[in-house]
Amino acid sequence: MSSLKEKLESALHSGLKEIKAAKDIGLIEEIRIKFLGKKGVVSQHLKKVGQLSPEERPEIGKTANLCKTSIISAIEEKKKILKSTTSDKSIDISLPGRRRGIGSKHPISQVIDDAVGIFRRMGFIVADGPDIEDEFHNFDALNTPPDHPSRDVQDTFYLDDGRLLRTQTSPVQIRVMEERKPPVRIVAPGRCYRRDTPDATHSMNFHQIEGLYVDKHVSLAELKGTLLTFAHEMFGKDVNVRFRPHFFPFTEPSLEYDFSCVNCNGKGCSVCKQSGWLEISGAGMVDPEVFKRVGYDPEEYSGYAFGMGIERLAMIRYKINDIRLLYENDIRFLQQFSHSN
Ligand code: DAH
Repeated sequence: MSSLKEKLESALHSGLKEIKAAKDIGLIEEIRIKFLGKKGVVSQHLKKVGQLSPEERPEIGKTANLCKTSIISAIEEKKKILKSTTSDKSIDISLPGRRRGIGSKHPISQVIDDAVGIFRRMGFIVADGPDIEDEFHNFDALNTPPDHPSRDVQDTFYLDDGRLLRTQTSPVQIRVMEERKPPVRIVAPGRCYRRDTPDATHSMNFHQIEGLYVDKHVSLAELKGTLLTFAHEMFGKDVNVRFRPHFFPFTEPSLEYDFSCVNCNGKGCSVCKQSGWLEISGAGMVDPEVFKRVGYDPEEYSGYAFGMGIERLAMIRYKINDIRLLYENDIRFLQQFSHSN
């Protein structure tokens, strides 16, 4: 009896070894037949069970069952492995590979990068400030009176701790002047937040680029020259700039500036509502009060500051008529700004 048991065990051993070594599914089937088929090794051994005494039979039966089930499960396992690793013969290796689309810069990022590039060539360096600001930098130091409507919770997102999401990039002016002595010449691009109801020209989250130049004898004429140079670089040599009087708490005098319409060259069209001009943003000469808050002597220094809405520039440049398109991330829209297109 022991020899029959040994024979079954050795059949199991060699069966498992062969299954392990098998490299394709066809071979696995051959191994199955060799060991478990009607005339297979295990069946041959089992034929001899009849010659055993009744006491010996149960144990041999157990060994035989174990032998069969072990081989069957080893075969199943191996089939799974072979199926997952062997290549499917139906694959056409002559087909071209699938191309992965190359990503591209978002139009807002493109405009920021281009604007920064233009100002850098004019000698400005890039400054940065936090999106979460305090009231001092966003309002107080910018000479904004305590009852100014822009501070209202209807316009500004306040955090529970009294801080706020900056409503403009102007606080970066303050942070820069707190840290450095004049001359300073910086631009600061970044995100801004206001509680605006979204529509074709408003978004709760938008971008500005701030400019600040402080030195001895800085004049309004230099501001105009800087904005004109920017307009030429960004939109072409035909573009003109005009100033209109305005009010901002942090500049005196303050102004709003327009670029002549890039669509009709100032003749008047639907884009500029027949005026020939496109409103860009605000600017002015830094208010002496602001200089005092940051410890600059207004008798010694003067400076100009300006802001620009990045979305506004992008909409003019790419002829986009709804600001929301810039935030919906519709791939069909964004692909139009890809250079690989
Ligand atoms: N911060 C202003 C705004 O968000 C824009 C602005 C106006 C910036 C005048 C300036 C400036 O630096 O001098 O409307």
